[in-house]
Amino acid sequence: MQTIWERKSIRGFLSKPVEDELVKKVLEAALQAPSACNMQPWEFIVVRGKAKEELVNALISAYRQEKRPSRTQSPVPEKYKKRMQELFGAIKEYAEKTPGFDTWEGSLRFYNAPVVILVGKDKNIDNLRLLDIGLSVENLMLAAHALGLGTCPIALTLRYDDVIRQTLNLPSELELVLTVALGYPDLTLPINQFKAPKARLDECVKWID
Ligand SMILES: Cc1cc2nc3c(=O)[nH]c(=O)nc-3n(C[C@H](O)[C@H](O)[C@H](O)COP(=O)(O)O)c2cc1C
Repeated sequence: MQTIWERKSIRGFLSKPVEDELVKKVLEAALQAPSACNMQPWEFIVVRGKAKEELVNALISAYRQEKRPSRTQSPVPEKYKKRMQELFGAIKEYAEKTPGFDTWEGSLRFYNAPVVILVGKDKNIDNLRLLDIGLSVENLMLAAHALGLGTCPIALTLRYDDVIRQTLNLPSELELVLTVALGYPDLTLPINQFKAPKARLDECVKWID
């Protein structure tokens, strides 16, 4: 319970490398997630070192040429839009206090995390199975927190999906569904003091007896 309550997105990391053993531990935790018929429809790619540097350079250069729009075009119902606005309002103060902080560039730099985990699935696997992949990513993030590491799930990068595939020469059957920044959190940064507000139970739960 403590790990669940404490975990939060980390948006600034120390340059200290993450030990291989710990990276493997968080990935092994991801693999323990439940999945329909135990299909385990997830694929993970760990990107570090020079490959990560090349990836970040390619993403930043693409971003500077073109600020791409969100890939989800369907309108967001009002109730959820309000929550997004609340988040942007609440995080602003912490972002302003953090020198050079920028969500776009920060996301595309994976907030300087030494480890990037690409999460994907075979493109022939139905989109319903994204649920299973989400469960595995939550396991990964909770395990990371329990081991003293920080994570940020980052989907903004997927707007430049073509750039990621090309830079890392990914197989065409692999569909990317999320990227995750992983590393030791820089707790001196004001942005990492931010804790996102969460809805109350009665806003999300109905009881039928
Ligand atoms: C699918 C997904 C995509 C996300 N994409 C980004 C992103 O591109 N950049 C970013 O800074 N945070 C991103 N986040 C983090 C969310 O903003 C964060 O989870 C939310 O504000 C709740 O905060 P918490 O993770 O601290 O509980 C993403 C989270 C999820 C689950």
